Amino acid sequence: MMRILIVGSAGLLGSYLYRYGKSKNHEMAGLSRSASPYTDIQGDATDFEWLGRQVKGAKCDIVVNTLKFKGSTDECEARKEECWKANFLVPEKLAALQKELGFGLVQVSTDWVFDGTKSGNYAVGDVPYPRNFYAFSKYAAELAVAGCSKYMILRTTGLFGHERPARNFMARFLENAKAGRQFDGATDQVSQPISALALSGIIIGLAGKGRWNATYHTTGPDLVSRLELAQAFAAHFGFPKNLVRPVTSSARAIYIPKQVAMDISGTEKALGRKIEGIGEMLGELDAFEKQG
Ligand SMILES: NC(=O)c1ccc[n+]([C@@H]2O[C@H](COP(=O)([O-])OP(=O)(O)OC[C@H]3O[C@@H](n4cnc5c(N)ncnc54)[C@H](OP(=O)(O)O)[C@@H]3O)[C@@H](O)[C@H]2O)c1
Repeated sequence: MMRILIVGSAGLLGSYLYRYGKSKNHEMAGLSRSASPYTDIQGDATDFEWLGRQVKGAKCDIVVNTLKFKGSTDECEARKEECWKANFLVPEKLAALQKELGFGLVQVSTDWVFDGTKSGNYAVGDVPYPRNFYAFSKYAAELAVAGCSKYMILRTTGLFGHERPARNFMARFLENAKAGRQFDGATDQVSQPISALALSGIIIGLAGKGRWNATYHTTGPDLVSRLELAQAFAAHFGFPKNLVRPVTSSARAIYIPKQVAMDISGTEKALGRKIEGIGEMLGELDAFEKQG
């Protein structure tokens, strides 16, 4: 049994990790700004003195930082100071606390530390080139956490799961599909999406095996466009395929990597198993929701 503190526990990944960890008999504690069934400690993590007191008081074996700046990636560009505080200064503070207290620190990062111009899969050791402020702040956090004595950096992408209000791609698809509305799936945005539940399993799996002091690519194995992903959701949840409309993504003011393919072989080796494909992840989400 591990005692795990989740920072950002009211969010998509935090709430799945909280529930998943409990289902595996770990002692879970959640710290977040919003009240939620997964918030045991409510407050603003950018109040660093307060954060330090809470982390010390939690006496945990592991801290998983799932917190990110509340706004969109476009807003990160316009509100750099707030984004920097949440995405860099919070993990920097957690890294300082790790050095003092010795817990294992898990930092959740992004595939956007790469710019998506490589033709093959990105290896963990490839040179990062973050090209928007969100990605820059996340990469800076990786560097801060990599100085810890017990850490893990997990680069992920396209998290999906059930969520209210619906912010992630799957939850938004379901909201629209249930209302009979067409849903746009971009053909030119390609990544390896992963469910928040599958990523929770990877976090607990790697920590349980003590695979510390490394960076992992923690995406799914299937490289798909947003269109293909939405079509997979339609097929799984029993909606007509033509509810999803192929579109080209609209022009953005910031640089967005169009396709990032990640080499996940090191993660699978460390875990001792394959990471599930999209179909299997959707089946696991159904079973998890049924179990309550
Ligand atoms: N979602 C994706 O597709 C994706 C892709 C690549 C990487 N990632 C990374 O994966 C991690 C998890 O993402 P997610 O989608 O689960 O994020 P999320 O749903 O936005 O959750 C983040 C949580 O952090 C909390 N939070 C933000 N600022 C806070 C503060 N100052 N004090 C206390 N709590 C605060 C939020 O609480 P409030 O709601 O109360 O503000 C929210 O519950 C992040 O590190 C993200 O960068 C995500």
